[in-house]
Amino acid sequence: MAGRIPQNFIDELLVRIDIVDIVDAYVPLKKAGLNHQACCPFHDEKTPSFTVSQQKQFYHCFGCSANGTAISFLMEYLHMDFIEAIEDLASRAGVEIPRDASHALNTNNKSSELYELMEITTGYYSKQLRNHPKADSIISYLKGRGISGEIAAEYELGFAPPGWNNLITELGDSDESMKRLLKIGAIIENEHGGYYDRFRNRLTFPIRDQRGRAIAMGGRVMGDDKPKYLNSPETPIFHKGRELYGLYQARKVVKSLDSLYIVEGYMDVIALAQFGIRNVVASLGTATTPEHLNKMFRVTGKLIFCFDGDEPGKKAAWRALENALPLIRDGRQVYFMFLPEGEDPDTFVRSHGKESFLDANMRLPLSDFLFNSLHKNIDIKSLEGRSEMVSKALPYLNKLPSDPFKDILVQELSKITRYEAEDIEKRLLEVTPATSSKKPLKKQITEENKGIEKIRWIVRSLLHKPSLAVEIDTAESLNSFPSHGIIFLCELIEFIQSRPNITLGGILENWRDTKFERRLQELSSEEAVFNEIEVTTEVFLDAIKSLIKSNLKEFELLKGINSPSELTDEQKSRYRNIQKSGLD
Ligand code: UTP
Ligand code: MN
Repeated sequence: MAGRIPQNFIDELLVRIDIVDIVDAYVPLKKAGLNHQACCPFHDEKTPSFTVSQQKQFYHCFGCSANGTAISFLMEYLHMDFIEAIEDLASRAGVEIPRDASHALNTNNKSSELYELMEITTGYYSKQLRNHPKADSIISYLKGRGISGEIAAEYELGFAPPGWNNLITELGDSDESMKRLLKIGAIIENEHGGYYDRFRNRLTFPIRDQRGRAIAMGGRVMGDDKPKYLNSPETPIFHKGRELYGLYQARKVVKSLDSLYIVEGYMDVIALAQFGIRNVVASLGTATTPEHLNKMFRVTGKLIFCFDGDEPGKKAAWRALENALPLIRDGRQVYFMFLPEGEDPDTFVRSHGKESFLDANMRLPLSDFLFNSLHKNIDIKSLEGRSEMVSKALPYLNKLPSDPFKDILVQELSKITRYEAEDIEKRLLEVTPATSSKKPLKKQITEENKGIEKIRWIVRSLLHKPSLAVEIDTAESLNSFPSHGIIFLCELIEFIQSRPNITLGGILENWRDTKFERRLQELSSEEAVFNEIEVTTEVFLDAIKSLIKSNLKEFELLKGINSPSELTDEQKSRYRNIQKSGLD
């Protein structure tokens, strides 16, 4: 068991330490008004714009927008992982990290219950692999695929036994229990309101997030049934586009990852691990998202995508390239590796061995992959071909951030096409990046946008002055509106009310690794509000009242129209937007 660190311990830890001391030990700070300042350690500058607020327990750079908590600072500045940062802070504060799972159950944070349940589910299935009378077939399957007991144990492979209600029976079939199992996607509701286990007669692969929390699961059939793999659905604790299978294990084994392989499947990660290649993650059968890329670039500067050599593999690689371009700076590198047709990393490493897999000749730098692909079907010897090549390449070059890498690619393109680098640069200023062919819709200033702005304003005020939440006693009437933004707002209010002394840093840590993380970060670091937010209780409560009122009005109005056909298109879209509105 991973021994996850309870969230309430992290809250308390942040109260005990002071971000000013932590940062000051590495980046000497000077007092400036309410805050402390220094030249930013995350970018080059001559005048200080890096600001640390003791009151908020939060840092922010007005130059490069780096921001975060004491934990983030240790992660970013000293490249610690999350656990190391917590350990570091705990030892400064002279406290022990509780790893006892029962702690987590006592927090008010609702997600913590889901993590806990996922942990129990994971444990239950791995136990079945050891003890269930029918586990033999799985064990021989694993042996047949050459997987050692050691690796199976490290990746916590498990066995979901045949039958419709093993997990349900194990965890108790009370309503409460069913509700929670449904929430983590471990069971499915049938059309009669009954429930059954999602994973049946399958080999299970638990998925942990970077912090080691069990968040989801994949399950493989033994034979040729379809689907070959079942995965947990999207849940409050699992977002497929954000998670990488194996990242937790890779970081645990390799302290400092100088590169990371990205493969497609569970079995690929496991086979490579068994051959001693530990710097591997899998994207779980989905395309590589910008979030995946950001996550990986936070732990290493060099990514090697490994795809099948067939057409779908090439397409997936191209998509990864497009998403990677905007992130290539500061010496970050991206490579592509195409395996011979019919092979995947698992079969390849078993038949050709570790050295062949690691051979640098197996991979293509992103620049080669880019230019080679653009080259295709172009006769670069003709004038027409050269000009076509320039026009095709421009949108991609334009996605690159300003960085020496971009300059080098411009020079390379110039060499290939014998078109002056200077002229390419001139052209670059004229074209739009490759994906923005879809013009962004003009923002309409409508009621619903005003509603979203209101929620943002309230959240922003709460981030900077959490004590405002204590004054709210109308949260319940807010809660009856079905919108993500409001549901989040209510969670935030409830959270602050349960911890009246929480700082901005504490709030951000509570939502770390959730889908709200990035938006909260953005809202926390708007320059206008960072320094001094002057929101009085009166103004704040008025905003809450007005939010309730405007939602009530609109919601009632739309609800009162019985048949959807009576709604105009605009009303329909507004109704949908009331439901969706807000932070998400
Ligand atoms: P693969 O079909 O390449 O599976 O799918 P694999 O990992 O090589 O598995 P083995 O070797 O046949 O056992 C790659 C990944 O795509 C997702 C899974 O995450 C899988 O690991 N996938 C695939 C699904 O989610 N569902 C499927 O039905 C198939
Ligand atoms: Mn495979």
